[in-house]
Amino acid sequence: MSSSSPVPSPVGVYLTSDPTSFALTSATARWPVIITGVIDDIHRTALESEGEKVTEAKELIEKIGAVKHEIEHDRQLVPLEDDGLDDIALYNAELERQGPMTWLNAPWLYSECYLYRKLYSFTVTTKHWKDYDFFGRQKLDAFQSSEVAVAELALRYKALSGQLHENITQEQLKLLFREFIDISLWGNATDLSLLTNLSLDQLQSLQGEKARKESEKNILVNDVDKAWQAISGTKDGRVDIVLDNAGFEFYADILFALFLLDSDLTETVIFHPKSLPWFVSDVLPIDLSVLINALGSSTFFTSHRNEIDYLHGKLVKYNEEGRILIRTSPFWTTSLAFWEIRENGLGGGHAVWQDLKNSKTVIFKGDLNYRKLTYDAEWPRSTSFKEAIGPLATSGVKVFSLRTCKADVVVGLPDGKDVELEKEWEAKTAASGKPQTGKGWAWSGKWAVMPFSTGQ
Ligand code: F6P
Ligand code: MG
Repeated sequence: MSSSSPVPSPVGVYLTSDPTSFALTSATARWPVIITGVIDDIHRTALESEGEKVTEAKELIEKIGAVKHEIEHDRQLVPLEDDGLDDIALYNAELERQGPMTWLNAPWLYSECYLYRKLYSFTVTTKHWKDYDFFGRQKLDAFQSSEVAVAELALRYKALSGQLHENITQEQLKLLFREFIDISLWGNATDLSLLTNLSLDQLQSLQGEKARKESEKNILVNDVDKAWQAISGTKDGRVDIVLDNAGFEFYADILFALFLLDSDLTETVIFHPKSLPWFVSDVLPIDLSVLINALGSSTFFTSHRNEIDYLHGKLVKYNEEGRILIRTSPFWTTSLAFWEIRENGLGGGHAVWQDLKNSKTVIFKGDLNYRKLTYDAEWPRSTSFKEAIGPLATSGVKVFSLRTCKADVVVGLPDGKDVELEKEWEAKTAASGKPQTGKGWAWSGKWAVMPFSTGQ
């Protein structure tokens, strides 16, 4: 292996040609819909624009429409055109190394990243659409429509953070830590019904313990105690969160960050968003101000202003004090697995490694980050997390992944658990009149994993 090649995966990766994987559905049923949404958004934005911007919009729509056509007709992936940014060369080198490939017979991870990078290469080379987030409107609308859940969590945050008095015991603090971790975890799912909704007193009761067990039964790997140890070991230092989605999920992550800062469990929280529009809903640096403004506006969220204002005030304060920071890297939008977060890592992996090894714990949010941690490869499901994250397991970086399962790859399960879940899902979907393959449990979003790696 030359030093300019990524560390290879010892097992095959998921392919868009595999009819038993979610990859095929994703490529054939989801991507065309996502692209149509992008075209619609450009169209709407162009209607409010004039002159050269409208001319550019027409060109953009044509180019993006052509990508949709290429996918639907299973054309070959061609090298990305140079748009002046460094990562293009890496995408093209990977295409050469892994290719030739067509859209519907390609490594899922590579082709999906290539898709979003290609769309961005069109806008970044224009004059008027450089900073345009074609998913921005959609992200904000979705956040607004989650008003009920936003208010509920604001109430909960105010109530729980009110319990952070000086005499709180470590045990009580740990209970709250687990609650806020759960909020951040399930913020990644569409279904929040698995969260408990209890006060600190209730959580300490037997009944609270029962409710927690109930809500945790869908968490197949749960290393929260290890994460607690790593984070609560020292008061100073930093916790990093490699973000996933904007809107409600980011809001849930912010609640967790506020808890860490309120309780002085850490000095700073560093958020790592993407630097270009990514997988529809991922956080961009600007989304922090978008969220702060949305929370602060009494016309955006009309109810429970008292609790939302309380939370908003805390967020603004920590942001101004530099205890909440935003740091991005082009590495997050390469197609590379996080196996490249290592000393000689490619595509910015080296710089990310140098940065993250100074963190008390790096929390990787969501499904795509988990796919990248595990190379999106067809590991037997009983493979250990340590094995599946390759060099990262001994890189000195402490990894804690909070992931609701929305794709095929899952590791760290006890022997036989996979078969049990397949049977359960088959029976459940058959009973609901919409039978699905048993394998579908892994991408249903109903189960989650929270593995921790010490980095040693
Ligand atoms: O196409 C499906 C998909 O793109 C998965 O690849 C990905 O895992 C998911 O959508 C996005 O999930 P998340 O936002 O949790 O990363
Ligand atoms: Mg995402």
